[in-house]
Amino acid sequence: MTSLDAAYFDQWYADMDTSPARDAVIARAMGLPPQLRDAGTLTWGGVGEVAEALRLGPGAALLDIACGRGGYGIEVALRTGARLTGVDFSAVALERARLTAAERLPAGQAEFRVGTLTGTGLPGGAADGLMCIDAVQFAEPPLAALHEFRRLLAPGGRLALTCWEPADRADKSVLPRIRGVDLRRDLPAAGFLDVEVHDRPDWRAAERGLWEAALAAPDDDPAVRSMQAEGRRTLETFDTLRRVYATATAP
Ligand SMILES: C[S@@+](CC[C@H](N)C(=O)[O-])C[C@H]1O[C@@H](n2cnc3c(N)ncnc32)[C@H](O)[C@@H]1O
Repeated sequence: MTSLDAAYFDQWYADMDTSPARDAVIARAMGLPPQLRDAGTLTWGGVGEVAEALRLGPGAALLDIACGRGGYGIEVALRTGARLTGVDFSAVALERARLTAAERLPAGQAEFRVGTLTGTGLPGGAADGLMCIDAVQFAEPPLAALHEFRRLLAPGGRLALTCWEPADRADKSVLPRIRGVDLRRDLPAAGFLDVEVHDRPDWRAAERGLWEAALAAPDDDPAVRSMQAEGRRTLETFDTLRRVYATATAP
């Protein structure tokens, strides 16, 4: 099985950089406007929910962990006026995030640094809000990332997470890294309060539209072909996963 390490994601992002077609398919399906610059699998409505759940004001400290090319965190920083620090282990993705932040945010409002989900290298207790979009399943185990998130947040700091969980925990056909995600169990275990975990079938339905649109797109470049391979696998087993959105507060 492919190792999903930094080198893998660097190549994934390098392919994307030369494929506006891939981003266009995703942006259309997720309802994302062009100014977001980068298309991920969170809908435009979802970005608004994350921004609201974090309860940040101007000058507050926002972390976007596993931020990728940064589009979502930059949008939340723009809406709230928060100071953004984005962390990812893909240096290629962070280069793109810096370019987008320079276009969309006032100078000095955002910085990006290499780090991992379980070892960000950032000081503890300094963040007012932390978002992690569609990435906590890559931590081994996800609970270790949740402990790191809790360490990073100041008392009362807010967490917003999106990811996937298995529809049936006994289903061995689901990838082990997704079977390892159990936010109802792990957020309290990591010490979070006010834990709310919601299934989002509406977001999942948008994803189905995305994969169907991907398969219908011309397969002109490696990023589109890679998305189509993922789309075929995903649609074959679509009902085995639930889309999950969680919020919590640090004690
Ligand atoms: C599906 S992408 C989501 C990116 C971004 N949050 C978004 O929604 O557009 C997953 C991201 O997790 C990052 N990632 C995966 N494992 C990681 C790890 N152990 N530490 C830091 N980043 C990681 C990848 O480089 C990639 O940017």
